[in-house]
Amino acid sequence: MTSPTRREFIGGAFALMTAESMRLPLWARAVPNAASTPSAGQILLGVDYYPDQTPEALWEEDSRMMSDMGFTNVRIAEFAWGLMEPSEGKFEFGWLHRAVEILHKHNIGVILGTPSAAPPPWLSAKYPDIFEVNAQGQRLRPGGRRFTCPSNPVYRKLSLAIAAQMAKKFTDNTGVIGWQIDNELTLGSSLRCYCNFCQAGFQNWLRTRYSTLDTLNQSWGTVFWSQTYTDFSQIPVPLLSGGDPNPGLALDYDRYQSYANVSFTEEQLTMLRQMCPTHFVTTNNVGLPLDTIDLRSLFAKLDFAAIDNYPGFFDMLMAQQGKPPSYDGIATGISLGHDFARSVKGGEPFMIMEEQSGKAGQSTFAPQPETGQVRLWTYQGVAHGAMGINYFRWDTATFGAEEYWHGILNHDRSKSPAYEEIRQTVKELKALGQEVLYSQYAAQSALVFDYDCSWAVKIQPGHYALDYMTQVTSWYGAISASRTGIDVIAPEADLSPYKIVFAPLAYVMSEKQAAKIKSFVQGGGMFVTNFRLGVKTVSSQIVRTPLPGLLRDVMGVTVADYIPIYSAKNAVKFAPALAGPDGECGLWTDILQPTGAEVLASYTKGSHAGEAAITINTLGSGKAVYIGADLDAASLARVLRTLSGLAGIKQPLEVPPGVEVTMRRAGDKQWIFLLNHTAVSQSVSIPKTFTDLLTGKTHTGKIDVSGYGVHVLT
Ligand code: GAL
Repeated sequence: MTSPTRREFIGGAFALMTAESMRLPLWARAVPNAASTPSAGQILLGVDYYPDQTPEALWEEDSRMMSDMGFTNVRIAEFAWGLMEPSEGKFEFGWLHRAVEILHKHNIGVILGTPSAAPPPWLSAKYPDIFEVNAQGQRLRPGGRRFTCPSNPVYRKLSLAIAAQMAKKFTDNTGVIGWQIDNELTLGSSLRCYCNFCQAGFQNWLRTRYSTLDTLNQSWGTVFWSQTYTDFSQIPVPLLSGGDPNPGLALDYDRYQSYANVSFTEEQLTMLRQMCPTHFVTTNNVGLPLDTIDLRSLFAKLDFAAIDNYPGFFDMLMAQQGKPPSYDGIATGISLGHDFARSVKGGEPFMIMEEQSGKAGQSTFAPQPETGQVRLWTYQGVAHGAMGINYFRWDTATFGAEEYWHGILNHDRSKSPAYEEIRQTVKELKALGQEVLYSQYAAQSALVFDYDCSWAVKIQPGHYALDYMTQVTSWYGAISASRTGIDVIAPEADLSPYKIVFAPLAYVMSEKQAAKIKSFVQGGGMFVTNFRLGVKTVSSQIVRTPLPGLLRDVMGVTVADYIPIYSAKNAVKFAPALAGPDGECGLWTDILQPTGAEVLASYTKGSHAGEAAITINTLGSGKAVYIGADLDAASLARVLRTLSGLAGIKQPLEVPPGVEVTMRRAGDKQWIFLLNHTAVSQSVSIPKTFTDLLTGKTHTGKIDVSGYGVHVLT
């Protein structure tokens, strides 16, 4: 492989490729041999590999088998700090170099992980200040992983030093294609750190954000409970006190913790950019539903977003929580995660750095995926815009905390039940061709996901069971049932590409966001939102105007009262435009008073019976819909689907529950991905004759999608 400069790399990255084009995007140029065979069209299809945990005598066999699987790449070394730096300042890369050479010989490109998620014992023993302090004020201990503070200067310095030594060693190694910085930042037993270094970091961050104490005191309203600060050094972190913290301080602390992790990552990124200009750089994160780091900031300067995906692990967690089994429900959550990952960098392709391939779990574990499920999850990723998939993991460890997290080879190195399926899937995907793999995901609707809202609702949920992520997930589920294609966008994103924008629980509202929503509606878009709209400013103060604050004129209503629901239940009766059985109210009711909007549903019980529960307002050539009640799932699905129809969204296909439809486009060509997340065959009516790219067969009238089956139709 010749090494283009970083500028050349990036110049072509994420551009839409046409079949004739010789200019491949960043990741494809990193695929061994892709540059010499551009028409083949490839994405990264690899595996997470642990040579550090595998006898060296097996590396050659492993590499040969990976090559036989058709894999293009591995990710290695992200937990191997101790082997690379056995004592402070003494570096040993011989073993890693030999591993890279063997893999490279078999045409497997290497993504190197920087190892900061697991500092070795010599480091913990010498620098005990680096340990994270959890929300109970307890200091974590070493012995696991991810127990460190993101603000600690010594930990940052040593993390950067080992990464820089790796970079120096491997910058000219043609076997290396890119970097993963750290591993799943913040996903440890404590999601936030509250140590003294974080307190000092928080105070500095506040100095930059507010400049003066007067501004800070005003923004937080510190006169309440006599909390006016006269020096930045007095400002605490929101650890256990005699009462709840100031909500402005608590929200800023979430922002600071996110920032601390981003700036930790960017220190390594800046170094890698300088030292390894031809390599791509990313990090992996679990993505939604975890909300601890603002992933838009985390990935802003990285080359692409990367997430990890373990549907079976969710299945196990749901069973543990007493929730009914639902691979369809899990599939919806996974699609939300994928749509978010794609949207994090404005629609650019993302990577799945870890994809479940076997039984998943640590002390307890989920069963082996059913035959067809690993292939299905792979296509689900591609359908939503993935440009790379690494299966987790190659062989299954026989020691350590993840002995039961199964890979493609079993403990005894026999082939796992998914081995052949993955081999076939890789082969199929390579045969799909560049045009479809590099096409764009098509979305006409958008769902707003706002970290500020998520954090602010956690700080003051209003109702103990009210949760932003749950609202977002249930809205996504309801919207995706109308199979329209959804981008998951930032609160201040450009809304003009969409026909309809959904924003559940938009509790914190900036002036900029409100202005964008207003001009979107005036220009003909439909904006759909629900209770607790616009209650808070970005400083987490409550607005001093009637609710919904900045959006009163857009929504054409004022909120007469807001009521959490416990034993006094309520229900709504729908107007003909939303016709259906009466809906139940779950956790919340906002009582709406139209000031111009039409009523689409009214409450039926209690002192607000007959008052408005759902309204629609016309502004300019668009509409704004306020759903004041927390509707039951069936009513919400019907209402959002009806509204999508009113906004002009047309479904490409009608499908039964459990079957997912996703479209990708390139110019005037389009491909429909049909994914059956259920174990049984499902019949789907099709309006015209389609050819399945995977089998070459044509289908007319209807298509039977087998259990966990996939079709790519054109
Ligand atoms: C991921 C993590 C991996 C491994 C895997 C299985 O969340 O990034 O390092 O731990 O889960 O547990």
